[in-house]
Amino acid sequence: MTTEPRAVSIPMLKGGLGKSTVANALTDALARRGRETVLLDLDPEGHLSTGLGFPDRDGDGPDYRDVLFEGADPIELVSQTGFGFDLVPARNLEEVNRHLRREEVLRSDEQLRTHFVDPLLGETYDYVVMDLPGSRNKLTNNALVASRNVVLPVSPSAEAIHGVERTVAKLIGPLRQYMDVEILAVVPNGLRRRIDQDTVDRELLETINTSEAFAASLLAGRGADLEAGTLPDGESVSAVLDDHVPPFARITPEEWDRIDTGEREAPSVPIRHRSAFTRAYRERCPLSAYDPDCDQLEYFDELAAIVEAGGIEPTR
Ligand SMILES: Nc1ncnc2c1ncn2[C@@H]1O[C@H](COP(=O)(O)OP(=O)(O)O)[C@@H](O)[C@H]1O
Ligand SMILES: [Mg+2]
Repeated sequence: MTTEPRAVSIPMLKGGLGKSTVANALTDALARRGRETVLLDLDPEGHLSTGLGFPDRDGDGPDYRDVLFEGADPIELVSQTGFGFDLVPARNLEEVNRHLRREEVLRSDEQLRTHFVDPLLGETYDYVVMDLPGSRNKLTNNALVASRNVVLPVSPSAEAIHGVERTVAKLIGPLRQYMDVEILAVVPNGLRRRIDQDTVDRELLETINTSEAFAASLLAGRGADLEAGTLPDGESVSAVLDDHVPPFARITPEEWDRIDTGEREAPSVPIRHRSAFTRAYRERCPLSAYDPDCDQLEYFDELAAIVEAGGIEPTR
């Protein structure tokens, strides 16, 4: 693992899990660590752009079509947010997707990498972060190919884990036949309940911290049997989960035992639900600008360090 320029995308085939929230706060954290960072809003709905003060989803200015197909300089798409990082706001993305779907575009999944990310990464920017919609389109494929690194947010809901499993099985596993796609971190988001009782938060944290089937889904395309929910021979559940669940959200089976016997107080695992996230969105600024003292910012700093390192550094 090395600190080097890196692109990372946030693909989850499900809405409302906190993709845009995590993309926003992660980019902001990278910027506050002194990294030159640009955020690409690739969701046609443009929620992320709106939340940073760029609400126009269509217009006459240059868009990705000019860069991907007409040879325009990618820097022309970039806006300064005034928050220490840059943004390519969502603009005309339905049309961009339509254009990419047209058959005469050869190697249509590599356009973003070739014409946008490669020229800027390591030159103008240390990090490129891409926010994606909850359903698949051509730009989703482009973002995966261009980034080859993903962060997967999961929030406590009945379908959240299913969302990870689907995303990995449908998007990441198949792509791994052709290129390395690293899951840098699975990030629980929006937690608000106790975990020493039978709650959705507990269910989520227990799954990402103990389940072999979940660990297997993270190794989609790398020898895991997704149907049976089993890891390849020689892989241990705890080692795979150590590699993918950030230390701030990692609870081992022994720790669960101590929580359940009352030996250990149940921890409030991040990232917590905080109304400041929604308020910051309404104020059109990142969380750190709205509430510099928010107790969840430190975890985005940890996530930024994981992105810089290219994965979770072994601690145990
Ligand atoms: N940790 C959190 N605490 C409180 N609200 C949150 C948190 N994470 C996300 N939200 C809110 O939940 C909603 C959905 O989040 P969003 O990031 O837009 O999801 P997605 O991009 O996956 O659709 C937004 O209104 C957002 O402000
Ligand atoms: Mg979103």
